[in-house]
Amino acid sequence: MAFKLMAERRRTLLKAALGSSLLVTLAPFLSWGGYLYRPEATSGQIRQRLINLKDFPVNSKLTFPFPATGDPTVDSDPFRQYILVHLPSGDLKAYSKVCVHLWCLYDYFPEKRQFQCPCHGSIYNPDTGVATKGPASLQPYPTNSLPELNLEVDPDGTIYATGLRGRIGYGREWRAEAAWIQQRQSSSPNTPVTGYVVFRDPLPPDNILSLIRGVDAKIVKWYGYVDKSPTEREWLTGEGEQNITSATAVYGVDASATPSSHLKLLENPQIILILPR
Ligand code: FES
Repeated sequence: MAFKLMAERRRTLLKAALGSSLLVTLAPFLSWGGYLYRPEATSGQIRQRLINLKDFPVNSKLTFPFPATGDPTVDSDPFRQYILVHLPSGDLKAYSKVCVHLWCLYDYFPEKRQFQCPCHGSIYNPDTGVATKGPASLQPYPTNSLPELNLEVDPDGTIYATGLRGRIGYGREWRAEAAWIQQRQSSSPNTPVTGYVVFRDPLPPDNILSLIRGVDAKIVKWYGYVDKSPTEREWLTGEGEQNITSATAVYGVDASATPSSHLKLLENPQIILILPR
């Protein structure tokens, strides 16, 4: 416990120091209020063209600045760097390139199909942006999750970034996620959504099953972990409800739920939210 507290304090201090120097560097270029709060923006405020699908094959990546200004100095700022990946499943995902551990820039390794940070070895699942190994994975949700860009694809295959859900270097912002869920829910009120139910603290599997049943959601897949030591966490995963008890602590489940379930989930103090995919 002492180790974890010290590590967390060091991390906070380092981020504060790095943050102030970065902001001082950027100050001549930026409006303070705009810079500090823009990372929480949701969709609809910016629509930036990225690439067309015909030029972006499966398992490829694209690094780009967002929002792009056209000024090479501003656009090369690490806090504006994002990565778009065309996943083998066909899904498109785009995340901030800043590792949520100590702000190094990670990269996508297509042969391993994962994001990997060169500094301390954190690994992220590109399907979700959630850290699965290394120090970033030891941080509690949502600080283990890369801020994600909302994407739109035109009928002609052009991909656009339309806003960010999260705070760069710190993880997702659950309020922005909730706003996005509500927006999506109002645009297609009868479509069930598959997403993640994430628990603030690990709960016994039996509690999770009863909570999920209580909100009309079905477990598709679960993710759990076992802390083997203060610095080593082993992640486990399984399908359906049958094997959920094999995880010592279940952290999140990939579940499908009806739209009306979302708000119930958000009201439950033990659950943070469902993240639509
Ligand atoms: S900065 Fe430490 S793992 Fe990325």
